[in-house]
Amino acid sequence: MTQARAALVRANEIAPSLEDDAEDVVAGLTVPQKRIAPKYFYDEAGSQLFDEICELPEYYLTRTERSIMERNLDEMAALIGPRAAVIEFGSGSSRKIRQLLDNLDGPVAYVPVDISEAYLTDMATALARDYPDLQILPVFADFTRPFDLPSYTVSPSRNLVFFPGSTIGNFERAQAQSLLEVMRHEAGPGGGLLIGVDLKKDPAIVRAAYNDSAGVTAAFNLNVLRRLNAELDADFDLDGFGHEAVYDALEGRIEMRLTSLRKQRVSIAGHGVDFLADEHIVTEYSHKYSQDEFAQLATAAGLEPVRAWRDERALFSVQYLTVPS
Ligand code: AVI
Repeated sequence: MTQARAALVRANEIAPSLEDDAEDVVAGLTVPQKRIAPKYFYDEAGSQLFDEICELPEYYLTRTERSIMERNLDEMAALIGPRAAVIEFGSGSSRKIRQLLDNLDGPVAYVPVDISEAYLTDMATALARDYPDLQILPVFADFTRPFDLPSYTVSPSRNLVFFPGSTIGNFERAQAQSLLEVMRHEAGPGGGLLIGVDLKKDPAIVRAAYNDSAGVTAAFNLNVLRRLNAELDADFDLDGFGHEAVYDALEGRIEMRLTSLRKQRVSIAGHGVDFLADEHIVTEYSHKYSQDEFAQLATAAGLEPVRAWRDERALFSVQYLTVPS
């Protein structure tokens, strides 16, 4: 029996706290179109709110992806083949991985890659207990940049990069292509990618998913300001900003905004930032793709689209791509 390993590998430079990102945050707020990058959503409270979003009736993404996986796991496993090493990008709490691991033919390793050390450690410990024959090799890294894979004690027949949840949609197209290129590099020749991609559809369905009636998405969006107050010595008045999620049909994406409800000045890390009434900060894009658009993006990144599974309403897709040998 292979001994499960759960030692953490630090594979590239990561800013350990928001304070190290102060310059980046201030720079984003002092350009004509103010921006806060979506990676700042995910402190502990933000991650919990995101978990709540995934259970909302309007948020079809998580539930639909889960059911596509459930219904097609046999075919996915057959395409991926035996003895794969599964590398999960942005593994978070890794809830989805068990469904995949349980259905693959003798996977030899699981490599969760994340910037949250706490998530990685907890999840690797829990998985090591439940999968004693699997090498579990957590990597603490920013997955948008190439990183070194840990060495396996049992060689896999191929690497499979797993990237569920349509997080690829949170990257602008050029960045999404370069992220797919990083995935191609990590999977290596002959490797594969299994990736969740949200599809273009009736904009009313998309709008509802990001403007839920319980207000959880609004709380998730506003939480980033609370975080800047706590960690960057900012003084955002949380009642002075409102959540908006607008669908831009031309770009095929949701644009999440925090809109200033009045003219105001905010101080952040020693800098003053002025807001006009109705001026907004862009906090996130969530791109939706047609099947052809995603295939084109993947091809431009040097990948070969092999198979795309969808639900019967064509809301969401799970795509299998390979790296040419
Ligand atoms: C993580 N990501 C795929 C989510 C999305 O749908 O773009 C983040 C999110 N933002 C608002 N609701 C969910």
